[in-house]
Amino acid sequence: MTDPHQESNIYFIDPESGAEMARLTNQDHIVTKYMGGLFSEIDDLSTIHRVLDVACGPGGWAQEVAFNYPNMQVVGFDISNAMVKYARAQASVQGLDNATFRVMDLQKPWDFPDQSFDFVTSRFITFLPAQVWRHLAQEIGRITRPGGYIRLTETEWWCLSTSPALEELNNMIVRSIKLQSGFSTTGRFTGVLPMLGQLLQDAGCSEVNYKTHTIDHSYGTEAYESFRRDAEVIFKLAQPQMIALRLATQAELDKLYDEMLIQMRQETFRGLMLIVSAYGQKTPPEA
Ligand SMILES: C[S@@+](CC[C@H](N)C(=O)[O-])C[C@H]1O[C@@H](n2cnc3c(N)ncnc32)[C@H](O)[C@@H]1O
Repeated sequence: MTDPHQESNIYFIDPESGAEMARLTNQDHIVTKYMGGLFSEIDDLSTIHRVLDVACGPGGWAQEVAFNYPNMQVVGFDISNAMVKYARAQASVQGLDNATFRVMDLQKPWDFPDQSFDFVTSRFITFLPAQVWRHLAQEIGRITRPGGYIRLTETEWWCLSTSPALEELNNMIVRSIKLQSGFSTTGRFTGVLPMLGQLLQDAGCSEVNYKTHTIDHSYGTEAYESFRRDAEVIFKLAQPQMIALRLATQAELDKLYDEMLIQMRQETFRGLMLIVSAYGQKTPPEA
């Protein structure tokens, strides 16, 4: 019997994979740190009580919010049963009664009341088809209260490095986004970054702001080991999708993967990840 959960999967990796969960847990710590913390875009948090993390993965960001801001109620949702189970277990172990996690498919109507959140965030869901992004903007606009904050954080991932193999593997993921009707127009970039402002406007923000974060993961930097391990996992787990979309054969992927491992271990390896957060406040209706 086919698994309906898998059939509707738009992620280029199996969301139930334990290796992916470990990768995201590791990545969350470093990315949040380089983003300047949990809410680095917002000066005054006094009006933020109800927070939602869309496609929260193993829930690291939401748990950190719950821990640091006991007066906030944090909800995370994700399509992955395994990640939500893990997030709940982590919250329970830490005694975080103010963090809850739910399994939900962001492609469907979201099971939250209108205007029920003060801050809604999503990070690294670059792979969504364009019509799913539009649905997401509509749902975020519906569930955010007027005056509440919306933040969308995305990246072109591994496109800036001195490793040709890493660049080629990244390009395959970008091409898969184009094939799956993402915002990419040429297959050279994901196309998501220039759309973030429009998506926020569609969600009801009349003013859009941007903050860019840079992670230098060149050989010898603080982020290097973590990013090298991340690449090792992600470009292995993405292989079935690349083959299914006929972007490469297994032999071609194996060759590129081995080259990437060697190139990333060289002392001359340089890599930079640029992360863009677009954010705004949902405009209250005219009085
Ligand atoms: C790259 S991870 C990002 C996780 C987290 N936002 C972070 O920044 O660490 C993408 C996440 O999207 C989730 N996802 C994929 N398809 C989804 C869907 N249709 N509905 C909800 N979540 C989905 C995956 O399970 C995965 O946890």
